[in-house]
Amino acid sequence: MAEPEGEEERHTTDLRALREYVERMREQERTRIARELHDELGQLLTGIKLDFAAVLRRLHELKVPGDIVDRLQSAVGQIDIGIAMVRRISSDLRPALLDHHDLGGAIEYEARRLTAQSGIPIEVWNRVEGSIEPERATAAFRIFQEAVTNAVRHSQATAITARLTMRGRDLLMLNVRDNGVGMSEEPRRGAESLGLMGMRERARALGGDVRITSRPGHGTLVAMVLPVRSEVEES
Ligand SMILES: Nc1ncnc2c1ncn2[C@@H]1O[C@H](COP(=O)(O)OP(=O)(O)OP(=O)(O)O)[C@@H](O)[C@H]1O
Ligand SMILES: [Mg+2]
Repeated sequence: MAEPEGEEERHTTDLRALREYVERMREQERTRIARELHDELGQLLTGIKLDFAAVLRRLHELKVPGDIVDRLQSAVGQIDIGIAMVRRISSDLRPALLDHHDLGGAIEYEARRLTAQSGIPIEVWNRVEGSIEPERATAAFRIFQEAVTNAVRHSQATAITARLTMRGRDLLMLNVRDNGVGMSEEPRRGAESLGLMGMRERARALGGDVRITSRPGHGTLVAMVLPVRSEVEES
């Protein structure tokens, strides 16, 4: 419209801009805390666990008495609990974007943000309508974030696509594909790949799964399948 904005419209525009700003700040803060937990504390605990495992192996070789080995073994068990706790807390930090957008909308928003930040075009195909249970939407959103962040950080891709679809009425599918350098078998199997492991475990905890298909030089596909309900009715 050519008409200059009235006082009221200007207030509405200001308010909307302010709301978006606050939402963006909250999202950045939660993402930062979740990432810090995952990267810093998660890596630290994993490091301690690997050191302990090495010591345990050495103690076995040296035939050290059982009670010492048992104490160490129990410490390793507690570290595992700590690792699981870090993962749970960081995944429970619900993305603020999901307070105001459905899953597809949140993914589109995040893709635009990451495209602007990285310069790599991230195309989103969203074929999912209607709302997904918050816990499941959070898991799918976090898996999307990790897959795209990995593609941006590690793949040297020139294009990334994310495809959100339903298979039938019960299965949510998310594919994130990049045309980058791909990866060898090693990081996909490695126990230190916290990010890759986190995606798989997040999906598995809700009855789904994440598969990674990749070959050096041929890009990477991260494929998530997630049931949209906690239990699909028995037939
Ligand atoms: N899309 C990708 N293209 C190429 N290499 C990848 C891709 N995704 C992951 N990788 C490789 O797999 C490794 C493990 O990934 P993972 O997400 O577990 O760890 P990370 O991204 O290095 O650290 P973080 O714990 O912060 O996620 C990466 O370091 C990288 O070498
Ligand atoms: Mg990662």
